[in-house]
Amino acid sequence: RVASVPTCDPSSDSDAKVEYANYKWDELGFGLIPTDYMYVMNCSKAENSFSEGSLVRFGNMEMNPSSGILNYGQGILEGLKAYRREDEKIMLFRPELNAMRMKIGAERMCMPPPTTQQFLDAIKQTVHANKRWVPPPGKGSMYIRPLLLGSGPRLGVGPASEYTFITYASPVGNYHEGTLNMVVEENIYRATRGGTGCIKAIINYASIYKAITDAKAKGFSDVLFLDAKTGKNLEEASTSNIFIVKGNVISTPATDGTILPGITRKSSIEVARVLGYNVEERAVPVEELSDADEVFLTGTAMVINPVDSVTYLGKRYAIMRGMSLITILFIKQNELRHLIRDLKIRISERRT
Ligand code: COI
Repeated sequence: RVASVPTCDPSSDSDAKVEYANYKWDELGFGLIPTDYMYVMNCSKAENSFSEGSLVRFGNMEMNPSSGILNYGQGILEGLKAYRREDEKIMLFRPELNAMRMKIGAERMCMPPPTTQQFLDAIKQTVHANKRWVPPPGKGSMYIRPLLLGSGPRLGVGPASEYTFITYASPVGNYHEGTLNMVVEENIYRATRGGTGCIKAIINYASIYKAITDAKAKGFSDVLFLDAKTGKNLEEASTSNIFIVKGNVISTPATDGTILPGITRKSSIEVARVLGYNVEERAVPVEELSDADEVFLTGTAMVINPVDSVTYLGKRYAIMRGMSLITILFIKQNELRHLIRDLKIRISERRT
Protein backbone atom coordinates (compact mmCIF):
# COMPACT_ATOMS: atom_id res chain seq x y z
CA ARG A 1 0.00 0.00 0.00
CA VAL A 2 2.77 2.40 0.83
CA ALA A 3 4.37 1.92 -2.54
CA SER A 4 1.28 3.31 -4.29
CA VAL A 5 1.34 6.52 -2.26
CA PRO A 6 2.70 9.42 -4.34
CA THR A 7 5.19 10.79 -1.83
CA CYS A 8 7.88 13.33 -2.59
CA ASP A 9 11.09 11.65 -1.65
CA PRO A 10 13.85 14.25 -1.34
CA SER A 11 16.43 11.65 -2.25
CA SER A 12 14.77 10.74 -5.56
CA ASP A 13 12.59 13.65 -6.68
CA SER A 14 14.47 16.73 -7.86
CA ASP A 15 11.67 19.30 -7.15
CA ALA A 16 11.18 17.88 -3.70
CA LYS A 17 14.93 18.01 -3.17
CA VAL A 18 14.95 21.77 -3.79
CA GLU A 19 11.88 22.24 -1.59
CA TYR A 20 13.47 20.14 1.15
CA ALA A 21 16.77 22.01 0.98
CA ASN A 22 14.99 25.39 1.17
CA TYR A 23 12.57 24.55 3.94
CA LYS A 24 13.06 26.65 7.06
CA TRP A 25 14.22 23.74 9.20
CA ASP A 26 16.04 26.11 11.58
CA GLU A 27 12.73 27.73 12.52
CA LEU A 28 11.01 24.57 13.70
CA GLY A 29 9.33 24.80 17.08
CA PHE A 30 6.81 22.41 18.59
CA GLY A 31 3.78 23.36 16.52
CA LEU A 32 1.72 21.43 14.01
CA ILE A 33 3.03 21.55 10.47
CA PRO A 34 0.43 19.59 8.51
CA THR A 35 2.07 16.75 6.59
CA ASP A 36 0.72 14.78 3.62
CA TYR A 37 -0.87 11.63 5.02
CA MET A 38 -2.33 10.11 8.15
CA TYR A 39 -3.13 6.50 8.91
CA VAL A 40 -6.66 5.49 9.94
CA MET A 41 -7.98 2.17 11.21
CA ASN A 42 -11.43 1.33 12.61
CA CYS A 43 -12.95 -1.19 14.94
CA SER A 44 -16.56 -1.82 15.90
CA LYS A 45 -17.28 -2.96 19.44
CA ALA A 46 -18.93 -6.12 18.11
CA GLU A 47 -15.71 -7.12 16.31
CA ASN A 48 -13.50 -5.93 19.17
CA SER A 49 -10.40 -5.90 16.98
CA PHE A 50 -9.11 -3.51 14.36
CA SER A 51 -9.46 -4.34 10.70
CA GLU A 52 -6.83 -3.32 8.19
CA GLY A 53 -6.17 0.41 8.14
CA SER A 54 -5.00 2.68 5.36
CA LEU A 55 -3.27 5.94 4.60
CA VAL A 56 -5.49 8.89 3.76
CA ARG A 57 -4.71 12.52 3.04
CA PHE A 58 -4.07 14.44 6.25
CA GLY A 59 -7.07 16.64 7.04
CA ASN A 60 -10.25 17.10 9.05
CA MET A 61 -12.27 14.09 10.09
CA GLU A 62 -15.98 13.52 10.53
CA MET A 63 -17.07 12.65 14.04
CA ASN A 64 -20.50 11.83 15.42
CA PRO A 65 -21.48 14.58 17.92
CA SER A 66 -22.38 11.82 20.37
CA SER A 67 -19.01 10.05 20.12
CA GLY A 68 -17.30 8.76 23.25
CA ILE A 69 -14.29 11.03 22.82
CA LEU A 70 -16.30 14.24 22.30
CA ASN A 71 -18.73 13.62 25.12
CA TYR A 72 -16.79 11.77 27.79
CA GLY A 73 -13.13 11.99 26.80
CA GLN A 74 -12.73 8.28 26.00
CA GLY A 75 -9.37 8.40 24.29
CA ILE A 76 -5.63 7.99 24.71
CA LEU A 77 -2.64 9.37 22.86
CA GLU A 78 0.95 8.39 22.26
CA GLY A 79 3.98 10.34 21.11
CA LEU A 80 7.16 9.08 19.48
CA LYS A 81 9.80 10.41 17.15
CA ALA A 82 11.55 9.53 13.89
CA TYR A 83 15.03 10.92 13.17
CA ARG A 84 16.90 11.27 9.90
CA ARG A 85 20.48 10.09 10.10
CA GLU A 86 23.46 11.41 8.15
CA ASP A 87 23.18 8.42 5.80
CA GLU A 88 19.52 9.42 5.08
CA LYS A 89 18.12 6.39 6.90
CA ILE A 90 15.19 7.20 9.15
CA MET A 91 15.08 5.64 12.57
CA LEU A 92 12.36 5.31 15.19
CA PHE A 93 13.10 5.38 18.91
CA ARG A 94 11.78 2.29 20.72
CA PRO A 95 8.29 2.25 19.10
CA GLU A 96 7.42 -1.15 20.63
CA LEU A 97 7.33 0.53 24.02
CA ASN A 98 4.70 2.97 22.78
CA ALA A 99 2.64 0.06 21.43
CA MET A 100 2.83 -1.63 24.84
CA ARG A 101 1.90 1.54 26.67
CA MET A 102 -1.08 2.09 24.39
CA LYS A 103 -2.32 -1.42 25.21
CA ILE A 104 -2.17 -0.69 28.94
CA GLY A 105 -3.95 2.64 28.45
CA ALA A 106 -6.62 1.04 26.26
CA GLU A 107 -7.36 -1.56 28.90
CA ARG A 108 -7.80 1.15 31.56
CA MET A 109 -10.11 3.18 29.29
CA CYS A 110 -12.19 0.13 28.15
CA MET A 111 -11.07 0.37 24.52
CA PRO A 112 -9.80 -2.33 22.13
CA PRO A 113 -6.09 -1.67 21.39
CA PRO A 114 -4.36 -2.16 18.05
CA THR A 115 -2.01 -5.15 18.15
CA THR A 116 1.71 -4.37 18.42
CA GLN A 117 2.11 -5.28 14.75
CA GLN A 118 -0.78 -3.02 13.69
CA PHE A 119 0.66 -0.18 15.77
CA LEU A 120 4.15 -0.57 14.28
CA ASP A 121 2.80 -0.88 10.71
CA ALA A 122 0.77 2.29 11.17
CA ILE A 123 3.82 4.18 12.45
CA LYS A 124 6.06 2.95 9.66
CA GLN A 125 3.51 3.72 6.96
CA THR A 126 2.90 7.20 8.37
CA VAL A 127 6.60 8.01 8.49
CA HIS A 128 7.24 6.53 5.06
CA ALA A 129 4.37 8.42 3.42
CA ASN A 130 5.51 11.70 5.00
CA LYS A 131 9.25 11.16 4.86
CA ARG A 132 9.93 14.41 3.03
CA TRP A 133 8.90 16.05 6.31
CA VAL A 134 11.53 14.34 8.45
CA PRO A 135 14.01 17.17 9.16
CA PRO A 136 17.68 16.90 8.19
CA PRO A 137 19.99 15.44 10.85
CA GLY A 138 20.44 17.79 13.78
CA LYS A 139 17.57 20.10 12.72
CA GLY A 140 14.76 18.38 14.58
CA SER A 141 12.68 15.26 14.25
CA MET A 142 9.33 14.01 13.08
CA TYR A 143 6.87 13.79 15.98
CA ILE A 144 4.36 11.00 15.46
CA ARG A 145 1.07 11.17 17.29
CA PRO A 146 -1.02 7.98 17.50
CA LEU A 147 -4.56 8.45 18.88
CA LEU A 148 -7.03 5.82 20.02
CA LEU A 149 -10.50 7.32 20.20
CA GLY A 150 -13.98 6.23 21.19
CA SER A 151 -15.49 7.39 17.89
CA GLY A 152 -18.88 5.68 17.94
CA PRO A 153 -22.03 7.31 19.36
CA ARG A 154 -23.07 6.67 22.94
CA LEU A 155 -25.33 9.04 24.83
CA GLY A 156 -25.31 7.31 28.21
CA VAL A 157 -22.06 7.08 30.14
CA GLY A 158 -20.17 3.99 28.99
CA PRO A 159 -17.74 2.69 26.37
CA ALA A 160 -18.36 3.85 22.79
CA SER A 161 -19.74 1.57 20.11
CA GLU A 162 -16.83 2.10 17.67
CA TYR A 163 -13.15 2.97 17.91
CA THR A 164 -10.76 4.76 15.60
CA PHE A 165 -6.98 4.61 15.62
CA ILE A 166 -5.25 7.49 13.86
CA THR A 167 -1.61 8.28 13.39
CA TYR A 168 -0.43 11.62 12.09
CA ALA A 169 2.95 13.33 12.08
CA SER A 170 4.58 16.73 12.12
CA PRO A 171 8.19 17.89 11.91
CA VAL A 172 9.20 19.48 15.21
CA GLY A 173 12.06 21.33 16.85
CA ASN A 174 12.50 22.02 20.56
CA TYR A 175 9.51 21.82 22.88
CA HIS A 176 10.96 24.58 25.07
CA GLU A 177 13.19 27.39 23.85
CA GLY A 178 15.61 29.19 26.14
CA THR A 179 15.96 28.70 29.85
CA LEU A 180 13.59 26.47 31.76
CA ASN A 181 12.21 28.21 34.83
CA MET A 182 9.71 26.05 36.65
CA VAL A 183 7.19 26.80 39.34
CA VAL A 184 5.81 24.26 41.80
CA GLU A 185 1.99 24.20 41.63
CA GLU A 186 0.40 24.21 45.07
CA ASN A 187 -3.33 23.89 44.32
CA ILE A 188 -3.86 21.83 41.18
CA TYR A 189 -2.87 18.15 41.01
CA ARG A 190 -2.41 16.26 37.74
CA ALA A 191 -3.16 12.77 39.06
CA THR A 192 -4.72 10.91 41.94
CA ARG A 193 -4.26 7.35 43.08
CA GLY A 194 -6.49 5.07 41.01
CA GLY A 195 -6.93 7.79 38.38
CA THR A 196 -5.45 8.01 34.89
CA GLY A 197 -2.11 9.74 35.60
CA CYS A 198 -0.16 6.59 34.76
CA ILE A 199 -1.57 6.27 31.23
CA LYS A 200 -1.65 8.78 28.38
CA ALA A 201 -5.34 9.58 28.73
CA ILE A 202 -6.35 12.58 26.64
CA ILE A 203 -8.26 13.94 29.63
CA ASN A 204 -5.01 14.27 31.63
CA TYR A 205 -3.88 17.29 29.65
CA ALA A 206 -6.74 19.80 29.50
CA SER A 207 -7.19 19.39 33.25
CA ILE A 208 -3.81 21.07 33.85
CA TYR A 209 -4.21 23.93 31.34
CA LYS A 210 -5.25 26.24 34.16
CA ALA A 211 -1.99 25.61 36.06
CA ILE A 212 0.13 26.00 32.92
CA THR A 213 -1.68 29.14 31.79
CA ASP A 214 -1.34 30.81 35.19
CA ALA A 215 2.34 29.87 35.44
CA LYS A 216 3.07 31.27 31.98
CA ALA A 217 1.22 34.48 32.80
CA LYS A 218 3.67 34.89 35.69
CA GLY A 219 6.66 34.36 33.39
CA PHE A 220 7.45 30.70 34.21
CA SER A 221 8.16 28.16 31.51
CA ASP A 222 6.29 25.21 32.97
CA VAL A 223 4.76 23.68 36.09
CA LEU A 224 5.97 21.01 38.50
CA PHE A 225 3.14 19.08 40.13
CA LEU A 226 3.13 17.57 43.62
CA ASP A 227 1.46 14.34 44.70
CA ALA A 228 -2.22 14.76 45.55
CA LYS A 229 -2.06 12.57 48.67
CA THR A 230 0.53 14.44 50.76
CA GLY A 231 1.30 17.53 48.68
CA LYS A 232 4.94 17.04 49.70
CA ASN A 233 6.50 14.94 46.96
CA LEU A 234 7.38 15.75 43.36
CA GLU A 235 5.30 14.08 40.65
CA GLU A 236 6.07 15.37 37.16
CA ALA A 237 6.01 18.47 34.99
CA SER A 238 3.06 19.08 32.68
CA THR A 239 4.41 16.90 29.85
CA SER A 240 7.53 15.29 31.25
CA ASN A 241 9.12 13.26 34.06
CA ILE A 242 11.50 14.87 36.51
CA PHE A 243 14.94 13.81 37.75
CA ILE A 244 17.14 15.40 40.37
CA VAL A 245 20.88 14.83 40.60
CA LYS A 246 22.87 15.01 43.84
CA GLY A 247 26.45 13.81 43.54
CA ASN A 248 26.36 10.32 42.13
CA VAL A 249 22.69 9.75 42.92
CA ILE A 250 19.90 10.45 40.47
CA SER A 251 16.39 10.33 41.91
CA THR A 252 13.04 10.29 40.18
CA PRO A 253 9.51 9.66 41.45
CA ALA A 254 8.61 5.95 41.36
CA THR A 255 5.94 4.91 38.86
CA ASP A 256 3.54 3.66 41.49
CA GLY A 257 0.21 4.64 39.96
CA THR A 258 0.19 8.37 39.37
CA ILE A 259 3.38 8.86 37.34
CA LEU A 260 3.46 8.43 33.57
CA PRO A 261 6.00 5.69 32.71
CA GLY A 262 7.89 7.75 30.13
CA ILE A 263 9.97 5.98 27.50
CA THR A 264 12.65 8.67 27.70
CA ARG A 265 12.46 8.29 31.51
CA LYS A 266 13.07 4.55 31.21
CA SER A 267 15.89 5.04 28.68
CA SER A 268 17.56 7.72 30.83
CA ILE A 269 17.48 5.44 33.86
CA GLU A 270 19.01 2.58 31.88
CA VAL A 271 21.78 4.79 30.48
CA ALA A 272 22.46 6.55 33.81
CA ARG A 273 22.93 3.21 35.57
CA VAL A 274 25.44 2.10 32.99
CA LEU A 275 27.25 5.43 33.32
CA GLY A 276 27.76 4.54 36.99
CA TYR A 277 25.02 6.63 38.59
CA ASN A 278 23.01 5.25 41.42
CA VAL A 279 19.40 5.73 40.25
CA GLU A 280 16.71 5.78 42.91
CA GLU A 281 13.03 5.49 41.98
CA ARG A 282 11.25 6.64 45.11
CA ALA A 283 9.16 9.38 46.69
CA VAL A 284 11.16 12.59 46.15
CA PRO A 285 10.30 15.33 48.70
CA VAL A 286 10.00 18.72 47.02
CA GLU A 287 12.59 20.13 49.49
CA GLU A 288 15.30 18.09 47.76
CA LEU A 289 15.15 20.60 44.92
CA SER A 290 16.79 23.16 47.16
CA ASP A 291 20.18 21.49 47.25
CA ALA A 292 20.09 19.52 43.98
CA ASP A 293 23.18 19.70 41.75
CA GLU A 294 21.00 19.35 38.68
CA VAL A 295 17.38 18.92 37.79
CA PHE A 296 16.26 17.70 34.40
CA LEU A 297 13.05 16.77 32.62
CA THR A 298 12.55 13.91 30.21
CA GLY A 299 9.81 13.24 27.67
CA THR A 300 9.41 12.40 24.01
CA ALA A 301 8.52 15.95 23.05
CA MET A 302 10.95 17.47 25.59
CA VAL A 303 13.74 14.89 25.05
CA ILE A 304 16.14 15.65 27.97
CA ASN A 305 16.03 19.21 29.19
CA PRO A 306 18.02 20.76 32.05
CA VAL A 307 16.06 22.96 34.46
CA ASP A 308 17.52 26.39 35.27
CA SER A 309 15.42 27.31 38.26
CA VAL A 310 12.52 26.14 40.38
CA THR A 311 10.31 28.45 42.39
CA TYR A 312 8.60 26.88 45.39
CA LEU A 313 6.48 28.78 47.93
CA GLY A 314 7.70 32.04 46.41
CA LYS A 315 11.42 31.20 46.77
CA ARG A 316 13.50 30.76 43.63
CA TYR A 317 16.19 28.07 43.57
CA ALA A 318 18.77 28.45 40.82
CA ILE A 319 20.16 25.13 39.74
CA MET A 320 23.64 24.46 38.45
CA ARG A 321 23.27 23.70 34.78
CA GLY A 322 24.56 20.51 33.29
CA MET A 323 27.87 19.41 34.76
CA SER A 324 27.26 15.70 34.82
CA LEU A 325 24.63 13.50 33.25
CA ILE A 326 23.04 16.22 31.15
CA THR A 327 26.36 17.26 29.70
CA ILE A 328 27.16 13.70 28.84
CA LEU A 329 23.80 13.15 27.20
CA PHE A 330 23.83 16.43 25.31
CA ILE A 331 27.41 16.58 24.17
CA LYS A 332 28.06 12.94 23.52
CA GLN A 333 24.98 12.04 21.56
CA ASN A 334 26.83 9.85 19.11
CA GLU A 335 28.55 7.95 21.87
CA LEU A 336 25.17 7.66 23.53
CA ARG A 337 23.73 5.95 20.51
CA HIS A 338 26.56 3.42 20.51
CA LEU A 339 26.27 3.03 24.24
CA ILE A 340 22.61 2.18 23.95
CA ARG A 341 23.41 -0.35 21.27
CA ASP A 342 26.18 -1.88 23.37
CA LEU A 343 23.82 -2.13 26.26
CA LYS A 344 21.39 -4.03 24.07
CA ILE A 345 18.68 -1.59 24.98
CA ARG A 346 16.49 -2.17 22.01
CA ILE A 347 16.63 1.05 20.12
CA SER A 348 14.80 0.37 16.92
CA GLU A 349 16.65 1.38 13.89
CA ARG A 350 14.24 0.70 11.14
CA ARG A 351 14.37 1.63 7.56
CA THR A 352 10.93 2.97 6.93
C1 COI B 1 5.29 13.61 24.68
O1 COI B 1 6.32 13.99 25.23
O2 COI B 1 5.29 12.92 23.67
C2 COI B 1 4.01 13.95 25.21
O3 COI B 1 3.11 13.18 25.10
C3 COI B 1 3.81 15.29 25.71
C4 COI B 1 2.85 15.97 24.85
C5 COI B 1 1.48 15.89 25.36
C6 COI B 1 3.29 17.18 24.18
